[in-house]
Amino acid sequence: MRPDTLEVNSRGVIRVGGIDVVQLAEEYGTPLYVLDYRTLRRYARQYRDMLAELSPPGVACYAGKAHLSVALAGFLQHEGLGLDVVSGGELYTALTAGFNPGRIVFHGNLKTEDEIRAGLEARVGYFVVDSLDELQLLGQLARARGVSQRVLLRLTPGIEAHTHEFIRTGQFDSKFGFGVAEGIADRAVAAALATAGVSLAGFHAHIGSQILEEDPFLANAEVLLTYSRHWQRARGWWPEVLDLGGGFGVRYQPEDDPPALERIMAGLRRQLRVGTPAGVAPPQIFLEPGRSIVAEAGITIYTVGATKTVPGDKRYVAVDGGMGDNIRPALYQARYQAIVDGKDPDGPREIVTVAGRYCESGDILVRDVELPPMVAGDRLVVLGTGAYNYAMASNYNRVPRPPVVVVKDGEARVWVQRESWADLTRLDRPFHPFAD
Ligand SMILES: Cc1ncc(COP(=O)(O)O)c(C=O)c1O
Repeated sequence: MRPDTLEVNSRGVIRVGGIDVVQLAEEYGTPLYVLDYRTLRRYARQYRDMLAELSPPGVACYAGKAHLSVALAGFLQHEGLGLDVVSGGELYTALTAGFNPGRIVFHGNLKTEDEIRAGLEARVGYFVVDSLDELQLLGQLARARGVSQRVLLRLTPGIEAHTHEFIRTGQFDSKFGFGVAEGIADRAVAAALATAGVSLAGFHAHIGSQILEEDPFLANAEVLLTYSRHWQRARGWWPEVLDLGGGFGVRYQPEDDPPALERIMAGLRRQLRVGTPAGVAPPQIFLEPGRSIVAEAGITIYTVGATKTVPGDKRYVAVDGGMGDNIRPALYQARYQAIVDGKDPDGPREIVTVAGRYCESGDILVRDVELPPMVAGDRLVVLGTGAYNYAMASNYNRVPRPPVVVVKDGEARVWVQRESWADLTRLDRPFHPFAD
């Protein structure tokens, strides 16, 4: 997986968006997140256009949790996508960018009262309701404002997608949503239909992340359509919207084989045809791709700081970033591919482990990977870091977070500035001893 514009010439010099990574590193420092605009835009448009072909036209609601900034929200608005936000902070970021609130879907299994108020005030298109408590509070706050808020109920359809246990959310014992099989969803639908201040527009179900098969997505749609038919028979209620979540896998490793979106869309179209009863319109389909829009566009440039060989001949290469800018290897044992700038493509290789700079033994970016021999000062590029890297970055060890720079046709623009040491203490207050 690499950005569309990434090139490595015969001397091993790496360029992206028409700019040498060395030049980017010198100008903006390292670690540096780089987003390739062309790749980002290609995926955003692919989802947007494929959904627009459905009848009625669907909406690609990019999942902001994968990577969000004011500029990225502005980009999504410019390209005509919708947006899934999961917190007041993501909502605030979108609104700061001037994002159309009517195209925002507000998620979260625990939205605070302040966040619900902020969503209502902004007039977001949909709340995805995750609990009866939330339903009650939302109804109460909407009534107080004299509005009726459109909601989707988050269902757990009982689908076990083959992915890492921590990011599997569609199974019955998930912390998210209302279980379809246990009758919990029935109670939630009845409550939503009876709650003044909310209007039940449809269902949402997200079955997990980094899913590399096609079938779980279609099974999800089938469960939601079957369940909707149950309510159409029982109460004459039929959804206007079915939001099938995100989770489309990407090729982190050569052996990862993500499903073709075209095939999923063809399957969906078939299901909507056979699954919509006579006399009602097919629901509008929302999808919430995050990773599959932004992962491939992203790379992170690091500078090698030190190398060492330990007993057993294990060789470490330490770089100037790590778990503070990419927590995924430590959190999920995620594996990334890496390349090194300026090395003869046909030259020697050795097995090394790329270690981060943070004070944890688990701060390993890439384990046992074959790379050219490196020395301090070399630039190492980790591929596929566009998703859940910047979004999950922390200030652990009080290390400032890297900037996000976007590149296109030889031009680089800063979308997020590098934090400074002063930023790290901006919210701190001085110590004053308590009286004894
Ligand atoms: C409700 C929901 N929608 C969308 C996504 C985005 O998933 P992905 O980035 O894998 O596409 C997630 C990820 O956790 C999610 O929980």
